[in-house]
Amino acid sequence: MSLSINLLNKFVLATEKAAYGASLFIGKGDKIAADKGAVDLMRKELNKIEMKGTVVIGEGEMDEAPMLYIGEKVGTNKGEEIDIAIDPLEGTNFVAKNLPNSFSVLAATKKGNLLSAPDTYMEKIAVGSNLPPNLLDLDNSVETNIKILAEAKNIKPDQLNACLLDRPRHKKIVESLIKMKVNINFISDGDVSGAISVIDQNSKNDIYLGIGGGPEGVLAAAALSCLGGQIQTRLVLDEEQKKRAHKLGIKDINKKYNIEEIVKGDVIFCATGITDGDLVKGIVNNSDSFSATTFVLHKDSKTNKKVTNLHKK
Ligand code: FBP
Repeated sequence: MSLSINLLNKFVLATEKAAYGASLFIGKGDKIAADKGAVDLMRKELNKIEMKGTVVIGEGEMDEAPMLYIGEKVGTNKGEEIDIAIDPLEGTNFVAKNLPNSFSVLAATKKGNLLSAPDTYMEKIAVGSNLPPNLLDLDNSVETNIKILAEAKNIKPDQLNACLLDRPRHKKIVESLIKMKVNINFISDGDVSGAISVIDQNSKNDIYLGIGGGPEGVLAAAALSCLGGQIQTRLVLDEEQKKRAHKLGIKDINKKYNIEEIVKGDVIFCATGITDGDLVKGIVNNSDSFSATTFVLHKDSKTNKKVTNLHKK
């Protein structure tokens, strides 16, 4: 069953308002204030929507309120039962330092159709569309995955472009990519758009890989599932986090999740730019209004568009 199309504009409004809330802190050097600015306005908008909503991917867990936490109920408590993944501010550093590529993002499905993951790290490997299903595997060596991908695309490894977060933990992956002469596009933050970049027609990237945030992995999976891309993930957990994962109902903590196990059925994905970025333009603040641009996907209606709306302040 599809999600009600009426929800689409309402979710867009939620990311637009959150993006505006964060935009008031662009270049102010305060990640926490910017995040709170986004969270407060997103929660206010979500609570106006006629739905029985539950945050399954959030800013933290119950004890970390006032963030939009995992398990928090949102909406008017009438209408459809909806599961929501949110990241009111993806790229807190980008906003604090006035750098490109920050946005406010959410994904929504019918209840039970989104992986509820704890707010921990996650291994990820993502590729674009028109490739054999479940092409790559986290348990393959980097060399093997690169060979398989190059073969599937009918090109040489040195013609492939890989995107990954610039982090010391990726040293081995980077060494393998360099050995195979793969072109590397490092990102300093923001791996939702990093993972989605494998699907963009104009994108420089054929593969996204490495360890990033778990919530960001689920959000990227939501977008990729609308666009025909692939992602495989596995949680990276310390002992304390393993207990939290059990509480969220995750039995096999070493499980590799393919995209259809992360996002099932129909899905809505909205990402509104805060600072200008590859995915969308940022908020434009006027004296008494602001304009917001949102990348909107809805799987069942095949919606894939960018919308710009003007709002009174
Ligand atoms: P925030 O917006 O929460 O700061 O996250 C930015 C981000 O770069 C994510 O896109 C990414 O998944 C994660 O941080 C990586 O975490 P770390 O900076 O600890 O490597």
